[in-house]
Amino acid sequence: VDPSGTRVFDLDLRSGTTDLGHGPNSETWGVNGSYLGPTVRVRRGEAVRMNVHNSLGETSTLHWHGMHLPAAMDGGPHQMVEPGATWSPQWMVNQPAATLWYHPHLHGATAEHVYRGIAGMFLIDDDSTRDLPDRYGIDDIPVIVQDKKFDGDQLDARSGIFADTGVLGDEILVNGTPGPYVDVTTQRVRLRLLNASNARVYNFGFSDGLGFTLVGTDGGLISKPVDLQNIQLSPGERAEIVVAVPSGTNPVLRSAPAQLGADFFNGRFAGAADSFDVLQLRAAAELEQSAPVPMSLAAPHDLGAPTVTRKFDLTSSTTINNRSMDMSRIDEVVTVGTTEVWEIANISGGVHNFHVHDVQFRVLDTDDPSLSGPKDTVYLPPGVTRRLLMRFTDFSDPTSPYMFHCHLLRHEDNGLMGQFVVV
Ligand code: C2O
Ligand code: CU
Repeated sequence: VDPSGTRVFDLDLRSGTTDLGHGPNSETWGVNGSYLGPTVRVRRGEAVRMNVHNSLGETSTLHWHGMHLPAAMDGGPHQMVEPGATWSPQWMVNQPAATLWYHPHLHGATAEHVYRGIAGMFLIDDDSTRDLPDRYGIDDIPVIVQDKKFDGDQLDARSGIFADTGVLGDEILVNGTPGPYVDVTTQRVRLRLLNASNARVYNFGFSDGLGFTLVGTDGGLISKPVDLQNIQLSPGERAEIVVAVPSGTNPVLRSAPAQLGADFFNGRFAGAADSFDVLQLRAAAELEQSAPVPMSLAAPHDLGAPTVTRKFDLTSSTTINNRSMDMSRIDEVVTVGTTEVWEIANISGGVHNFHVHDVQFRVLDTDDPSLSGPKDTVYLPPGVTRRLLMRFTDFSDPTSPYMFHCHLLRHEDNGLMGQFVVV
């Protein structure tokens, strides 16, 4: 905390070596360490300043995924941090409690920078979460899920020739750990699931028929918790779940074959047939009591009535509305204070999702409980159109754009991205 009351975080992007299960010499990148980065945790209403220093030998950026903030602080492709330089964005955190994350966003190199290991969680707290398990590392557990491939003892970023969506790994890391488990000492644990993988969609559920309660989506708590057996997350998406593990049992969080809604060819080469063990929960014989999940968690996400509709066709793995990303072209101009519907149609035949910076949207025309809360990233099966309701508030800047893009990182790098300004 500096004299003005601002919370200051020092984040240093660096390279190093990490033991990811293939010996100590795997070359990796991380933040303040050699792989991944620290969890940043702040309260709503706090002013923050992030000192992002770049000790990598090359240009990168650091983007605050899911954060409502001025475009110039967003860490997108325009806020490049040169080697040796420090970039210090600051803003006031003013959005509901949520599980957000940070990762590089250098145009054309996001996939590589994330794959090497730069990513971390950014948690926001407010008073609404007090009745959920919230002791970090005890009953509130970050679960950063990534799939990796190795060539000898080095990370292998190459993908198969038919793998249009990018690299798919055959090994799972949770928080950078191979073969992970967590000791459960309380009746209920909250898992903050983050799909920080480049391309893979996970279909999470537990062994032993164990269900769980979904309490939050990308941008915060859902209004009514819902009991589920499985939840699917595409790259960039998050879910907060609460699970009551019976004492003395060791259920495994798994990923079952993903329901991608794609044809056989596209599905297969996007990894739809694969399944994995992700994380074992090892419950003690005696568990400390936890409060039950409240029946109602958050006020409904009220975004007002839309006055503008925009259409975005995902026309190929490199284009939106038949155009590839151009850093010098503004694709959309939005008026601050406006509620809009963005209609996203996946007409390319391939597998995509869609992420919008600055806002948390509501997915219209669906009763899928996993889409019932605030979202910033949503999966889009081939042939499907999704209507997203979003409201642009507080920040306007005619010269700094925000991004919208597919979060399958190869697609983003290859041009499936566009820019909007809020004026
Ligand atoms: Cu998670 Cu534009 O990014
Ligand atoms: Cu895509």
